[in-house]
Amino acid sequence: MTGSYVSNEFSVDISNELERLTNQVDLFWDKESVHYTDLQFGSGSKILECGSGSGHYLTKLVDLYPKAEFYSLEADAAYAEAQKVRFQEAPYNKINVVNCTIEDSPLPENNFDLIILRLVLEHLPNADQVVASLRKMLKVGGRLFLIDNDFHNHLLTYPNIPELSTLYDAYCRQRVDQGGNPYIGRELPMLMEREGFGAIDFDTITAHSTLTGDTKFISSESSGIGLTLVQDGYIEADTYERLSKKWSEVLFADNHGYYRNLYICKGTKETEVFEKQAKSVKANQSARPKMQISGDEDTLTLLTNKWKEVLDRDDIDVDHNIFEAGGSSLMILHIRTFIKEEMGRDYPSSFFFQYPTIRKLSEAIDAPDSGASTAAEASTEKPSSNLQQLKDRFKKK
Ligand SMILES: C[S@@+](CC[C@H](N)C(=O)[O-])C[C@H]1O[C@@H](n2cnc3c(N)ncnc32)[C@H](O)[C@@H]1O
Repeated sequence: MTGSYVSNEFSVDISNELERLTNQVDLFWDKESVHYTDLQFGSGSKILECGSGSGHYLTKLVDLYPKAEFYSLEADAAYAEAQKVRFQEAPYNKINVVNCTIEDSPLPENNFDLIILRLVLEHLPNADQVVASLRKMLKVGGRLFLIDNDFHNHLLTYPNIPELSTLYDAYCRQRVDQGGNPYIGRELPMLMEREGFGAIDFDTITAHSTLTGDTKFISSESSGIGLTLVQDGYIEADTYERLSKKWSEVLFADNHGYYRNLYICKGTKETEVFEKQAKSVKANQSARPKMQISGDEDTLTLLTNKWKEVLDRDDIDVDHNIFEAGGSSLMILHIRTFIKEEMGRDYPSSFFFQYPTIRKLSEAIDAPDSGASTAAEASTEKPSSNLQQLKDRFKKK
């Protein structure tokens, strides 16, 4: 397996780690389950958890949706075996366990109504590839739940333990060295948007020790992280000693408390707009000669036809405000790709917001200095350039 999840770095052995993962599901479940209450999955619905670890989360979902079909995809062979043992009895014996990585999933495309990926992306170097694989397995209208950590703001205690920041900084460095992304939490909405999801929502799920109790909270925390960091040279042994001592002082202090967050991002594989657009861009490429910027088909006609197609509306006038007519940032991506393919020019997304009607956009594109980079330049464009353009725009106002 690739990435930064190494079970015996988190707990002393596999059975302890599976128990910790189980406790971690229980720690957040009351708050986390709220995110499922508005969803109905009856008979015929198919639910998949990838990187399902102990399998405990799936048992919670079976209790919530007793009529749905369930699949568990787990890369670790020992975990998959442990799940099969766990799922021997009804009602959990309906959970089908597949021992495989997400990247090599043998499960069919366009098949699932709900896919959950919880505390896995933080360990992987290829988040986009993984989310693209999950998207393929979803039906149109299917939901993806990505749930993960962001270790910049992981565990806050009262009384404060300053050494905890040192520990988590070191932990993040180790994760990155192992190929993981400990800050993935904040990136989840952008990741979903990049991979073509719609109806994206983002939220924080919090567990506070005063409400959960110390035992329930502590039993879901990893006991092995600190020692591994010392062994691997990421922190000094005396820092770890001080930290352990302060932790026990916190636990014995009156009025103590601590909390931890998970981040949840939900998205929908919407109508095939994205795929339809991708396909139509390809079809256009082969059906039509490459557009010359001042060639046969003028920019206004091209853009009008394209926006009509993307918005799926015939009644769009060239002076309509595209965003009031239902345009979205995802659609801008299609238009941007279209212009790049057809004209070999690239414009930052902010450009499209600056010219919100088809006429204005067309005039801006036809202007001698339209602020475009060539497609080749765009591929080496510095990430800050869009930001700079936005800043310049605001300065001008
Ligand atoms: C931290 S555990 C989380 C387990 C579970 N999702 C939970 O919330 O309790 C990460 C799990 O992802 C699995 N995993 C890691 N990389 C994977 C991959 N590429 N494909 C499928 N599973 C993977 C690990 O074996 C492990 O069971």
